[in-house]
Amino acid sequence: MTRIAFFDTKPYDKTHFDQLAAEYDVHIHYFESKLNENTAPLAKGYDVVCAFVNDHITEFVINRLYEDGVRLIAMRCAGYNNIDFKSAFGKIHIVRVPAYSPYAVAEHAMALLLSVVRQIHHAYVRTREFNFSLNGLVGFDLHGKTIGVVGTGKIGKVFINLCKGFGMKVLAFDPYPDKSLEDVRYCTLEELCKESDIISLHCPLTPDSEHMIDRKSIALMKPGVVLVNTSRGGLVDSQALLEGIKSRKIGGAALDVYEEEGELFYEDKSATLFDDDTLMLLIAMPNVLVTSHQAFLTDEALHNIAETTLQSIRDFADGKVMPHEICYQCATCTKEPNQRCF
Ligand code: NAI
Repeated sequence: MTRIAFFDTKPYDKTHFDQLAAEYDVHIHYFESKLNENTAPLAKGYDVVCAFVNDHITEFVINRLYEDGVRLIAMRCAGYNNIDFKSAFGKIHIVRVPAYSPYAVAEHAMALLLSVVRQIHHAYVRTREFNFSLNGLVGFDLHGKTIGVVGTGKIGKVFINLCKGFGMKVLAFDPYPDKSLEDVRYCTLEELCKESDIISLHCPLTPDSEHMIDRKSIALMKPGVVLVNTSRGGLVDSQALLEGIKSRKIGGAALDVYEEEGELFYEDKSATLFDDDTLMLLIAMPNVLVTSHQAFLTDEALHNIAETTLQSIRDFADGKVMPHEICYQCATCTKEPNQRCF
């Protein structure tokens, strides 16, 4: 039986992993704490660590896990910008869940966009207090507007189809354009910024994409542009975004992620004073809607995450190739596809 140390556990994770634990012959110990330099020793005696988006998987953490016998880190998410891959190489294998429900994330992006544009968040509060006035709630039609989609992978493509359903014109930026996409015009990021009424981010956070939305790109944008970010907070310079909103250049922002979300998102901070003035000001803006990195949170996605993660763990225990293994060489790797990364 494979022993798994499961970090940053939430009740919805436990429900879905517990449903499958017996079938995959694993024993799971659920830790509520995030994985970081202080909590890494908790994994001593376990074969596998299961981690999530805001765990800090640094060189120190990797070395400590390795000394304590851990040989696999199973990320129960798609993104992996929080891992020191070079330190892990040759010691600890890493797997992820590359796709669990692109629909969950794309539909959440659309829900956020519609809410911001049609002011649903204000209307909800008003009608709960029997305030049926419409003053200040004027929105705009999505039909006929130009949406700029940054990243046309699995989620970006589903989002593009939703946008087409609304009758929007689609511009896209991706270093690897998908030529098979119909009714989508690829362009540079600069052109996309200049021509879009709405911009939605669906690319990974890498050193190249960090702060791709900054003062310079915001200066290029149309007045009143709406920004949607359901990818990673670090894609957007939050201070520049706040300035763009204060100057009225940005007409609305719908954010499921935030660059300093690590210690805040997924936790109840309602009775705590926290130090992040930028986030507090963003949340206080009437035209900003923030959700707490919940775009993935559907039953279908959670089930698929548990199933794919446990299948990778079973393949690891059986000495097999793990199709969702990743390492720092993956982008340029020439090894046979039916091998492990090392
Ligand atoms: P994917 O790997 O299928 O597609 C990513 C696309 O981005 C690829 O086409 C790639 O060529 C493109 N890309 C890479 N670097 C780029 C750059 N600098 N500029 C523009 N495009 C670039 O990934 P998928 O499944 O579509 O996920 C996209 C992102 O969504 C993930 O990286 C993750 O950060 C985020 N995500 C957020 C979730 C949430 O709950 N909020 C849940 C799952 C993913």
